Amino acid sequence: MNKSLLSASLFALALAAPLAHAHEAGDILIRAGAITVNPKADSSSVKVDQGPLSGTNLGGKATMSSDTQLGLNFAYMLTNNIGIELLAASPFEHDVKIKGTALPAANGKLGTLKHLPPTLSAVYYPMESASAFQPYVGLGINYTWFFDTELTSEAEDAGFTGLDMKDSWGLAYQVGADYMLTDNIMLNAQVRYIDIDTTGTTYAGQTKVDVDVDVDPFVYMVGLGYKF
Ligand code: NI
Repeated sequence: MNKSLLSASLFALALAAPLAHAHEAGDILIRAGAITVNPKADSSSVKVDQGPLSGTNLGGKATMSSDTQLGLNFAYMLTNNIGIELLAASPFEHDVKIKGTALPAANGKLGTLKHLPPTLSAVYYPMESASAFQPYVGLGINYTWFFDTELTSEAEDAGFTGLDMKDSWGLAYQVGADYMLTDNIMLNAQVRYIDIDTTGTTYAGQTKVDVDVDVDPFVYMVGLGYKF
């Protein structure tokens, strides 16, 4: 084979090689990975919410620990550049801590809670579908459902009863990127900021106390995806 024929053959092969193209209208993308919810947890001070002392400011703040779970994305491409996406995850569990209140017994680890933060987003992929690299931005609606809220036994021994967190609706902002390893398999990394605002309520003896918490977490996920 002479040199020009060889290069012509290689050129033909290169043209025939499948492009690792991504993200066309009608595609379904499923991603799975490790997802971390890291609450900012800016909170109001703790307040009495009942009776003659209602509104009394007990000071202090609530904080929440971070947690990592299994995250899932289900995405459907409406066009080559716009998709809708649902974020799902196994339930997150966070410690709730109170510090600096005028109720010494309340300070420390008050309890734990679980939540699920399903989020439905519109996502824009600016690159052409032939690109293996597909960065994106998204805007969505989040509903956060709090459940299994439990006081620590120490808090119960100190006279607290019940722990309730109000569910939250809010906006969710995201940036992320897929990198197609093959026609179907992708690497993915994404970051979200979710506006989650809640009110935590408990009873100190007979006295209802509550605290407003802007959970407002950054949510990080890295994983793999598959395109159908
Ligand atoms: Ni907020």
